Amino acid sequence: MATSRGGFSSRLGFIMAAAGSAVGLGNIWGFPTQTASNGGAAFVLVYLVLAFCLAYPAFMAELLIGRYGQANAVTSLQKMSKNLWQKRFAFFVGFGGIICAALILSFYGIIAGWMMSYAVEPLAKIVGLNDVASWVISQGLVRNLFFTAFFMSFTIFIIRRGVEQGIEKWSKRLMPLLIGLLILLIIYVMTLDGAIEGLKAYLNPDLSRVFQPDLIVSALGQAFFSLSLGTSVMVIYGSYISKKENLVQLGAQVTLIDVSIAFLAGLLIIPAMYVAQSQGVAIFADDGSLIAGPSMVFTVLPTLFTSMGFIGLFVGFAFFVLMSVAALTSSISMLEGPVSYAVERHDMAREKATTLIGIIIFILSVIIIINLDFMLDFVATLATQYGQPIIAMLCCIFVGWIWNRSDVLAEIKQGNDTVEHSFFWKIWPWYTKFVCPVAIGFVFIHSL
Ligand code: TRP
Repeated sequence: MATSRGGFSSRLGFIMAAAGSAVGLGNIWGFPTQTASNGGAAFVLVYLVLAFCLAYPAFMAELLIGRYGQANAVTSLQKMSKNLWQKRFAFFVGFGGIICAALILSFYGIIAGWMMSYAVEPLAKIVGLNDVASWVISQGLVRNLFFTAFFMSFTIFIIRRGVEQGIEKWSKRLMPLLIGLLILLIIYVMTLDGAIEGLKAYLNPDLSRVFQPDLIVSALGQAFFSLSLGTSVMVIYGSYISKKENLVQLGAQVTLIDVSIAFLAGLLIIPAMYVAQSQGVAIFADDGSLIAGPSMVFTVLPTLFTSMGFIGLFVGFAFFVLMSVAALTSSISMLEGPVSYAVERHDMAREKATTLIGIIIFILSVIIIINLDFMLDFVATLATQYGQPIIAMLCCIFVGWIWNRSDVLAEIKQGNDTVEHSFFWKIWPWYTKFVCPVAIGFVFIHSL
């Protein structure tokens, strides 16, 4: 099996693919919106601490599980299990993660479709198709179905091609595009009136808010979503990394890229909100809360782009292409979890498994679209606030309490001869065993 299952051809390929999974709507849309509604820089500070102290260790646990098992999430976890009960538990954790990834994709595809529709709108305006332009951004059943199907087709197209020709190749193309667009947009927004005020709000923490429990819960949820934890995705990506690579370092690099891009996205969105405000758009209510909340990118930002006149069409187009690209490199990772399972456990051909699972997830999206008002929120909450933290916690428990300790250490040492002298080596094993599960559990219970 090992030869037929494929893998990343290079270190850069893995970094781009894993960073592509991590960097998505969560970074460019979720993080800035959460920052703006949680008092600016205080949220950023807490997010940074939690991303490195809790999300990174849990991320390493999932990567190590995958690289040790060299297989999909269920098979990898079962390889570490010593008896029937552990094997059942392994199935529960691995399959739970796969279901969670599928659920996330079912609603993520809808939102990504909106991003694409907002990228099409300025194009339609440029060529004079004004009716089309207003249709693509109207909330309607047909429009939602159409763009979700459109986005899912791209996702299926890439995953059908496999790890190296699909995930790796496209991540290597799309990630540099994403970073380039992000930087260009930041430079442009900084030249506009009001941007500097936004920058101050973003970078000046109100330290009294740092210990607010709600803020901590939101920041941890955000960090877990952003690193795609608790969904089998990082287990399967870990399984495609060569045993010669230094996993500890690779994991740290991906975390750093993920956090940096969220930070950069804040540099774009928060100043852009203040620019819109200086043009008379109401952003904050009297009590300081965000008026538009999560729908801000679809309301405030397009208003801002329109106010720029003709150039605004190009800026708006670039912005929503950026969003769509970020969503695509993430959605492919969500589809890979279930597909790798079907291919390896049920002996299906990759193309067939991808199309079949893609269609099943799309049908789920259709059900959500028909009941948009309550189901979008319901599925998102179920998968990201319940599913992800629970499965991520169980993965840490697996590594800390079930996986044979000497095997864990041997896996860390693969491709990393000098690791025994490192801080990671001394701290991480007991940290994952005790601190991670307790801290995740604690925050989870509070979030209820
Ligand atoms: N990390 C991505 C984001 O921030 C979302 C994502 C990609 C994801 N793959 C995932 C979330 C798997 C959960 C599970 O947008």
